[in-house]
This record gives sequence, C-alpha cells and structure tokens, in this order.
Amino acid sequence: MEKQWWHSAVVYQVYPRSFYDSSGDGNGDLVGIISKLDYLQQLGINLIWLSPVYLSPMKDNGYDIADYQAIDPRFGSLEDMRELIAQAKQRDIGIMMDLVLNHSSDQHAWFKQSRQSRDNPYRDYYIWRDQPSELRSIFGGSAWQYDSQTEQYYCHLFADAQPDLNWENPQVAEEIHQMINWWTAQGVAGFRLDVIDLIGKQIDQGITENGPRLHPLLQQMHQACFKDKTLVTVGETWGATPELAKLYSDPARQELSMVFQFEHAAIDWHPQHSKWQPQPFNLVALKQVLTKWQTTFNGDGWNALFWNNHDLPRIVSRWGNDQQYRQRSAKLFATLLHGMQGTPYIYQGEEIAMTNVRFESLEDYDDIEIKNNYQEKVVEQQSLSHQQFMQGVYASARDNARTPMQWDNSSNAGFSQGQPWLKVNPNYTEINVAAALDDPQSVFYHYQKLIALRKSSEFSELLIYGTYQLLLPEHPQIFAYLRQYKQQRLLVVANVSEVDQRLSLDFKAKQVLLNNLQQPQGAVNRLGALQLAPYQAIIYVLE
Ligand code: NOJ
Repeated sequence: MEKQWWHSAVVYQVYPRSFYDSSGDGNGDLVGIISKLDYLQQLGINLIWLSPVYLSPMKDNGYDIADYQAIDPRFGSLEDMRELIAQAKQRDIGIMMDLVLNHSSDQHAWFKQSRQSRDNPYRDYYIWRDQPSELRSIFGGSAWQYDSQTEQYYCHLFADAQPDLNWENPQVAEEIHQMINWWTAQGVAGFRLDVIDLIGKQIDQGITENGPRLHPLLQQMHQACFKDKTLVTVGETWGATPELAKLYSDPARQELSMVFQFEHAAIDWHPQHSKWQPQPFNLVALKQVLTKWQTTFNGDGWNALFWNNHDLPRIVSRWGNDQQYRQRSAKLFATLLHGMQGTPYIYQGEEIAMTNVRFESLEDYDDIEIKNNYQEKVVEQQSLSHQQFMQGVYASARDNARTPMQWDNSSNAGFSQGQPWLKVNPNYTEINVAAALDDPQSVFYHYQKLIALRKSSEFSELLIYGTYQLLLPEHPQIFAYLRQYKQQRLLVVANVSEVDQRLSLDFKAKQVLLNNLQQPQGAVNRLGALQLAPYQAIIYVLE
C-alpha cells in the first residue's frame, strides 16, 4: 500500500460553539481556539477537524450554512480563520473544514432565490415537487415542507430550515467545487464531508442513502478538488458496510481518503426507538463489528477510528463507568481504539473523560433533534412516555457531547465570562483540563502517551500498518487483540467490566508498554496467569 501522511495522523475534533469563548458572548469562537492551540500541541494531535464555523442561523448549530465562504460573526471573521490556519500550521497542526454539501440553510442566497418563483435560475438548486412523498426527515416529521409562495414542496432530509441541494443539477456541483477549491487555497489540510452518502439520492424512487449517482459525483469532486493535492478527506457515511467503504476509500478509485462507518456506534440502538431506548451493552457484538472493520481493508481502503463525536454520547458514560471507574474506563476505551489500525479521532473533552449530562428539564436542552423527536414520539405518536424519552436523552442525546468544554473549576468551567449558550455540566468542578494537567496519572496523559506511541516510537509502523487479530471472540468481558508487523508483536488486552478477571493467554510478554493501572512491571508479566482489575487495559510487547 502506498503510504500517506494522514495514515499516521491523529485528529482532534473541535465543536467550536462549545470549545472556548474569548469574547464573553457565551459562544466559543476562533480566537478562543487559537488560544488553546498550545494545549492541543501538548496533547500531540496533527489535525483539527473543525465543525462548521460558516455564516449560519444556527438551527442545527452551523450544519445549516447560509454562506460557505463567510465566517459566522459569533465565531469571528475570515481574518481570524486565516490566523487559526497559520497559527496551527506553526505547530504542525492542519485544519480540516466541515463540508455540509447535502443541504444548505434556508437563509442561503441560493435558497432565497430558489423559493421566489418556479422559473428562478436557482429553482433547480433545490428539490421541489408538487406533492410530498412518504419520506421522513431524520430529525422527525415529513421530509417535505410546503412553500406557499410557489405552491410546491421542497425536500429536507434534516430540519425544514435545511433544504436539500439538488445534486442532479451540474451547476450545484460546479459551485460547490469552486467553494472547496477556495478553502483549499486558504491553506486548509483537508475536509470532513457531512452525510455525504446522501448526495446521490433519487428522491422519486425513495432512495436517499447510497444512491446510484453517489460515486460518480465523488469521483467528479475528486477530479475537480482533491486530485494531486496533499489533502485528507473523510466522509460521514452512516450506512457504510465494508464493501461500500472500499468504494469510497480505495485509493485506486480516487474518491475519499476514508469514511466514518457507524456500525459500532449504533450497536445498542433499539429496533423501534433507535437511540432513544438503547439496549444493554454487548461486548461480544462490539468486538465482532470492530474486528470485521479491522480486517476488511487490504490496501483498498482505510479506517477512521472513533468512539465519540458531536452527535454521539460520551463513551465513558455510554459503555464505560463514569462514576467509580471514570478515569480508568476512559483510558481503557482510549487504549482499545488507539491500538487499532486506522486514523484515530478524538472528540473535544474525551481526553479528560468528560461525561454525559443530566439536565432535569427539557428546556435546558438546545438540540433540534431532541425537540423534534419529542414532538413526534411523545406528543404525537405517544410511543414513548416523557420519562422514557428523558432516559433516552440522558443516554444518547447529542447535547451530551455539546456541553461546554471544561477548562477549569472557575465559573462556567472557565469556558466563558458570559452566559454559555448551553449549560455547563455541573461536574466541571472535578472534571476539567486544569485538574487533568496537574495530575500525572490523568486521562489526558494517557492519550498523550498513546499518540506518542503511534507517532514517534519504535512501534509506530506496527500501530499504523500492522495486522490485527482478535483473541477470545466469545469472551463477554475481555477485549484482546494482537497487532503484528514484520518481527514485532503487540498484545492489547482489556477487562471491559467492573469485576476482576483471570485469564490465561498463551504468549510470552517481553515488556509492558502501557498499563492504565500503576503497577510494578512484574505484577502482570505472566500472561499464562493474568489477573486484570476492573477496566484494566494493558499493551504488551510480545517475545
Ligand atoms: C451530520 C452532522 O454530524 C450532524 O450534526 C448534523 O445535524 C447533520 N449531519 C445534518 O447536517
């Protein structure tokens, strides 16, 4: 396989509104991010995936873009953006912009034109029909909105303020390509492509994901925007299977560098109520899914590794233990992920084991997905009670990941001098960056070690390119796998439970490379008689 610079990269996702507010208006901003670059450099990451900072009415926190080439005043200016790119570059950190190409905001100039008359030159930039179909919006309700001015319906797979762009219209592709090239000229290192598997839709046939035009459109985009450049691109593809992922990320096909697959992330969703009523965690199923993805590519694709992002609950609360074993279980999940093959992504706050939040009132939540689903499931269909829905919110809602970053134990967690746009998680007095940096045993330093192992150790090549083999596939509490490259072998073994585990592995340990418990080396050297404490995770160098 031809090696690429982003194979060895570690990416950190910044959700700008919640990262750091330098102006005191309660919203995070670009100057705030610049002021935290030293912190990110200390962590060791090479790339920042920046969730949208474009001009936006913020109906979906910036995933509703009113102008792709302007910065929202809440976040700062284009000058600030250029400064962020330059300052990051000085620290060897690249910026990945978030491209939301499936839809725009209804406040985008294109849509304002489009809705004016049926013969407006921009009419065909969006999808208009005389009659709505049965299609549902991902945020709840119909995917069609009636517009009285021209007496037609427009399609929106997300909120009604997010009309879908019409990728059947070649002019749309052309405008988007120009915009992407403009960002590349600003010096960004790459792009994350929001719900990109939806752009090939055939709406009249009811096809939204993975439509027939998807891959031709991506190949066209590659030719127009990515070819012969050193950019990294990652697509968000909820419906990806390994076969589909190869279509996107096989270098020979010239589409994207990699995709986010979500099979593991939806593993505990309820068949009817999806994430609003998650099922108990099943480690065997998780191992099976991740192993399938770890063993699927053979130079014909590349994995993006993640537990968290701005749409998912915090991993330590979801499958770890965010009380007694918060730090240890957070380190366990970090070890498991960063031990795998692919490019790891860290979501802001994950590196200090920030947790889910439990606000008592629905009023304290902001996310449109929560509001629309409440309306649909509790008020209209009555398929879930208020209590059941709140349990779903506590377990799975996106705002769990979006509460402001906890920098220190001063008011508002040091995030803002003003009133934060979303309440801070009250546990900031204990869980915050300042406390993590003060504690040599903190989760932060565990991430720092994992990143250093991948980037600049004698095991770098192994961690990036080594083969993966699952051990004990049926064990309900132990996640163990081997990585191998040339003559080197590493064993990652983790006890994903709250009880001690004894096991016998037929390998000889040469060295303990990383242990999330402080123990003398000799204590866990005998793999034939291994005892693991709750949530203990170890990486061994094998003979
Ligand atoms: C996926 C994004 O990650 C999510 O936050 C957003 O709401 C939808 N796409 C719509 O853009």
